[in-house]
Amino acid sequence: MKPVIALTKGRLEKQFIQFLKERNYDVNPLLDKGRKLQVETDDFFAIFAKGTDVATYVEYGIADLGVVGEDILLEVQPDVFDLLPFPFGKCRFAIAGEPSNLTPLKKQRIATKYPNITTKYFRDQGKSVDIVKLEGSVELAPLLGLADDIVDIVETGNTLKENGLVVKEEMLTISARLIANRNSLKLKRSILTPLIDSFRVEEAII
Ligand code: PRP
Ligand code: MG
Repeated sequence: MKPVIALTKGRLEKQFIQFLKERNYDVNPLLDKGRKLQVETDDFFAIFAKGTDVATYVEYGIADLGVVGEDILLEVQPDVFDLLPFPFGKCRFAIAGEPSNLTPLKKQRIATKYPNITTKYFRDQGKSVDIVKLEGSVELAPLLGLADDIVDIVETGNTLKENGLVVKEEMLTISARLIANRNSLKLKRSILTPLIDSFRVEEAII
């Protein structure tokens, strides 16, 4: 029996496939999948889903393992085992907005895909803000007057730059993570361990 891994579609999927390639896995079935959402490789079954759904498939035990951004884990707090960090998907959470826009005297309005992380961050600073929840393209919000600033992840910084926005405050850094279903870890230990061990990366000690 092969393990089932849920992969986050898009950027993380591409970076994970590259990571597998560097570890001599045969990634051709993943590269040749076309629009298919389930693929079998020599080593595992892969399913492709959006990040929050990756966490759900792992929590419910449909997938044994998942590759997901830490942003999802912090925002959704799924009941999964957070196994290890990957050396890719590295981003910063930041407050960003228009360069000229001063912090308003009235209650600040923040647009974000991450209402829980945002609320907690400002609450820890003793600030109360109004949050507008968006599903994507949050950079539009300050440009169109929907919000004063945004809270979002920044990877290359290109999206901010190309939309004339700047980072105003760095919040925290995150990466992609390997998560596991709690029961799978106990019941399928023998088939999961070799895979999990091959994903461990020794951080260089400086
Ligand atoms: C993410 C994130 C930023 C951008 C950061 O958006 O929300 O907008 O990527 O990456 P960058 O710093 O390399 O430009 P995504 O492209 O996933 O789309 P969405 O926000 O519409 O979901
Ligand atoms: Mg975006």
